[in-house]
Amino acid sequence: MTFGEAAGILLVLQTGLLARIINAVIFHHSAVGPLLPLFAAALGVIALRAAATIGARRTAASCAARVKNQLRAACVARIEGMGPLALAGTRAGEIAHVTVDAVEALDAYIAKYLPQRAIATLLPFTILAVVFPLDWISGLVLVLTAVFLPVSMIVIGDQAHERNQRLWARLALMSGRFLDVLQGLSTVRIFGAARRETAEIERASREHRVLTMSVLRLAFLSSFMLELISAVSIAIVAVISGFRLLHGTMAFSPAYFILLAAPEYFLTLRTLGTLYHSRMEAMSAAEQIQEFLEGGSSFTAAPRGSVRITRPPAIAFREVVFSYGGAPVLTGLSLRIAPGERVALTGPSGAGKSTVLSLLNRFARLQQGTIEIDGAPLESLDMGEWRQGVAWLPQRPTLFHGTVRDNIRLGRGGASEADIARAAALARADEIPLDAPVGESGQGLSTGQAQRIALARLFLRSPSVVLLDEPTAHLDAVSAALVTESIKELTRGCTTVLVTHRPEAAAGMDRLVVMGGGVIEGTLTP
Ligand SMILES: Nc1ncnc2c1ncn2[C@@H]1O[C@H](COP(=O)(O)OP(=O)(O)O)[C@@H](O)[C@H]1O
Ligand SMILES: [Mg+2]
Repeated sequence: MTFGEAAGILLVLQTGLLARIINAVIFHHSAVGPLLPLFAAALGVIALRAAATIGARRTAASCAARVKNQLRAACVARIEGMGPLALAGTRAGEIAHVTVDAVEALDAYIAKYLPQRAIATLLPFTILAVVFPLDWISGLVLVLTAVFLPVSMIVIGDQAHERNQRLWARLALMSGRFLDVLQGLSTVRIFGAARRETAEIERASREHRVLTMSVLRLAFLSSFMLELISAVSIAIVAVISGFRLLHGTMAFSPAYFILLAAPEYFLTLRTLGTLYHSRMEAMSAAEQIQEFLEGGSSFTAAPRGSVRITRPPAIAFREVVFSYGGAPVLTGLSLRIAPGERVALTGPSGAGKSTVLSLLNRFARLQQGTIEIDGAPLESLDMGEWRQGVAWLPQRPTLFHGTVRDNIRLGRGGASEADIARAAALARADEIPLDAPVGESGQGLSTGQAQRIALARLFLRSPSVVLLDEPTAHLDAVSAALVTESIKELTRGCTTVLVTHRPEAAAGMDRLVVMGGGVIEGTLTP
């Protein structure tokens, strides 16, 4: 038996005891002495019921918290699995809405609605089971009137469900749009579109309000129906019992018990009715979550592989063909990199150099050919383990709101202050104070500074594979030379692919490979 069910049964017990006490005091003029055991029992039952209620709330809350945690973890895993290429095609606001709001909407359903439903399926029957033997007429009235409750709930509920779904779809759209506008605020201002966007947000909010009100109207209507039905039913029971009491055909004690129990009988159903909207909300939210978790993406997580990366591994591209859907980018590219070999990859802009790194990061899947890591297909490796061993500097690295220190520490969570300072120095990022604030997406920093902070992250890791995308592209010649020195240090003993279109950056690399036309065109010695 659950806490909630125990509380329900204790409630019936408590009502029975109260009816007996009042009956004894009023009609039998009983002294307090003989009633003491009854009082004690009533107090005991009340205390137990309080304990059971607390227990029920606690369990419900912790269940809800667990479910929310698991769902959020699944969402985060999904976001990770999608990778940056697929994510670029989604709205950040929508993802945030699903992971935060939609998951939160399940809370009321799990913590309140489900326990109440369990009680509502037990308590009314328990009350009926006690009432019928006492007085079948009152029992019949309770049963007959209760039949109207589900009917009215279903009629109203269907309507409300449909509106709720529309409400949630609208809300998701609105969050996405709002975030877009916020992120592009400077662009919006530059093009003088602020007023139009404000009007747009205003319109969306207004629509949202109207829809919310219509959902609420339905909710109020349904709770009004519930109130009305239960009030009428209790009145009928009271009148029938009253007349029979008057004629002396019914004893006071059962009549009083029935009058006390009847409101409780309807209260459980009514509470369920008021919580019904949280169920509808949760259903709509759950659909969105499911859609997101199962949503179509070009990328699916690889099976857990048993292949472990020996460090540093050999990497072999064999006849790799890849396109982003449109024109082909790689058309049968083959490249073998020996363990610990450092390769500089160069070629004109748009040649597909960054794409080669994306494939190695498993952000996208090749369409033909294979990439082998120590002879095993890249897809057969556990993705988490593979990425653990890879240090990647993107062409446009992401910096987060916080300090320079926070951003460098992303390289390794537990890094000490000394490690961070050393990493900053190695990446030649130490002209920026570690305490300097960084805005969202690296605002307040130059592109070159942002890239060196991102590079500093890599010095905190101990990778077996290093992938660098134009690490010196935004630096002056002097800084570039210094960073190139540091990179030589970073990549020592690691299988390395360094993308660059500056020949100087290839200094210290073992081989310079030139890309063009979707294949490797040739090899030079740096
Ligand atoms: N996410 C993407 N979606 C569609 N096309 C892309 C995407 N990323 C790159 N491309 C296209 O693929 C080609 C190769 O891009 P990229 O690998 O970034 O070249 P590189 O790094 O050598 O300049 C380019 O023509 C580019 O327009
Ligand atoms: Mg590139």
